[in-house]
Amino acid sequence: MARKVVLAYSGGLDTSVAIGWLKETYKMEVVTLTVDIGNVTDLSAIRQKALNIGARKALVVDAKESFINAFVFPALQAGAIYEGQYPLATALGRPLIAQLLVDTARKERATAVAHGCTGKGNDQVRFDVSVAALAPELKVIAPAREWKMTREETIAYAERYDIPIPVTVSSPYSIDENLWGRSIECGVLEDPWAEPPEEVFSWTRSPEEAPDEPGYMTIGFDKGLPVSLDGERLDGVMIVQQIHELAGKHGVGRIDHVENRLVGIKSREIYEAPAAVVLLKAHQALEDLVLSKDQLHFKSKVASEYADLIYNGLWFSGLRQDLAAYVRSSQRYVTGEVKVKLLKGNCYIAGRKSPYSLYDYGLATYDKGDAFDQSASPGFIHIWGLPVRTQAQVQRDLPE
Ligand code: ARG
Repeated sequence: MARKVVLAYSGGLDTSVAIGWLKETYKMEVVTLTVDIGNVTDLSAIRQKALNIGARKALVVDAKESFINAFVFPALQAGAIYEGQYPLATALGRPLIAQLLVDTARKERATAVAHGCTGKGNDQVRFDVSVAALAPELKVIAPAREWKMTREETIAYAERYDIPIPVTVSSPYSIDENLWGRSIECGVLEDPWAEPPEEVFSWTRSPEEAPDEPGYMTIGFDKGLPVSLDGERLDGVMIVQQIHELAGKHGVGRIDHVENRLVGIKSREIYEAPAAVVLLKAHQALEDLVLSKDQLHFKSKVASEYADLIYNGLWFSGLRQDLAAYVRSSQRYVTGEVKVKLLKGNCYIAGRKSPYSLYDYGLATYDKGDAFDQSASPGFIHIWGLPVRTQAQVQRDLPE
């Protein structure tokens, strides 16, 4: 019996060609696995296509809920944004797909898994490292990294073996989508001076065409997790989808990022992530209200470390799990509501409240009711400034 490989299958050109190429080159039986994390329009058509091309078996799984609950929301609670800009949609999807590839390989008694990544990007690293962490015994095959075909040659290969070529092949862009965001690269975007043409966007209106009237929404959080929208309790997937709709309509969530890939390349990426942009901002606004200054300052360092781990393919590392434990603990009082205003591409925090708010009106106000003891300030400042006064006296050339 031929050995088996489980291929992560999107239905696009590369992974379709990979079915034929794996059979021909490795003489393996191919089982395809299509994972829906909010990117797939017609699961059964993709399944049929894989079978027509020659897959022995074509599996599909709806993993939207696990994606949101086990990957996206922990990253949201962490406040993970790569280089201050990219909410990590693609990067968060990869470890989940890797996990499902491994589960399937075990069920199917396959000896290898395969993915459609090239050798230049971050995604190959995320797949390979995640599979190695979960199932070191499995071989990982990346046909597009091995076959050394240009795009034209890949198309010619498809024609030769009667593999249907998707209409999207005429598009110059490489696109990856899931519930947390849409990543667009290639074509004219490779010139960082070129403004992204309107055609690259499909989830967000341009700010010019967004309504002149603002849209409002109130997001409820329970221990750092979004649980309601405008007072209505909803599950995670629904909340993300509904925020996506409204924010996208107001042109919120477009990101233009020249980012540093793990493999050393600077690359210009366009993202559309309306729900991520709104939720990350709202979550931060609530933390600003309920966490102490020290917790907030420390947590922002954790956020940047956490984002790097996700970006660099280290989801299944011990350090990522340790940081996740810290993040969970930090969310004990992140409960409350945030009011968000959406207007012409911008997302503003319009208000926030929490039963655990540390904001004390009596301490903050300049009006009547001021409870802050101003007479204690000079003594505090005297001690606070002591080291500066001491130093300035001894080292007179210090200022400038
Ligand atoms: N640069 C992003 C990342 O590394 C997005 C990659 C998107 N992939 C794609 N095929 N367009 O996470």
